[in-house]
Amino acid sequence: MKSTHNLAEFQQVGRDFALGLTPLLDRATVVGLYGDLGAGKTTFVQAVAKALGVSETVNSPTFLIFKRYQLPVTGSGYSSLVHIDAYRLKNSDELRRLRFSELLADPANLILVEWADRVADLLPKHHHQLHFEFVDDTTRRISFS
Ligand SMILES: Nc1ncnc2c1ncn2[C@@H]1O[C@H](COP(=O)(O)OP(=O)(O)OP(=O)(O)O)[C@@H](O)[C@H]1O
Ligand SMILES: [Mg+2]
Repeated sequence: MKSTHNLAEFQQVGRDFALGLTPLLDRATVVGLYGDLGAGKTTFVQAVAKALGVSETVNSPTFLIFKRYQLPVTGSGYSSLVHIDAYRLKNSDELRRLRFSELLADPANLILVEWADRVADLLPKHHHQLHFEFVDDTTRRISFS
């Protein structure tokens, strides 16, 4: 568990997390981001994306379900960062229809899922789970499991 006391500290946790990731051999790396509205999930994804070399602006893909960003060839070992926001999904069917299983099958994908609990049945049982908690305007608690 980590507490961050300002945005810069929080972003540093995102950078450190990103730099600690390595591709798996047989499937995509999946990171589930759990926590209430405004807890910092998108902000965390933005920090991860920046650390891995994404230069485009990463916005919340709420109305698109997911967005894919190319990653630089040298660096993390991943070729794409996929940002999913499951907030407006009632269940996992919509994501299933978007051929989510193909994304999951590719070790070159790093997949970050906001509101991961809404699509829990589609995620690999073992994935990185990050829980974000709003404490006050500037303070967040992040726990890893
Ligand atoms: N660690 C932080 N310190 C201060 N402000 C933060 C921090 N993290 C996020 N914020 C601010 O809180 C607001 C909401 O953050 P963010 O969009 O990342 O939350 P979210 O968990 O993705 O919310 P949603 O569930 O709506 O997608 C933003 O204005 C962001 O700048
Ligand atoms: Mg968000």
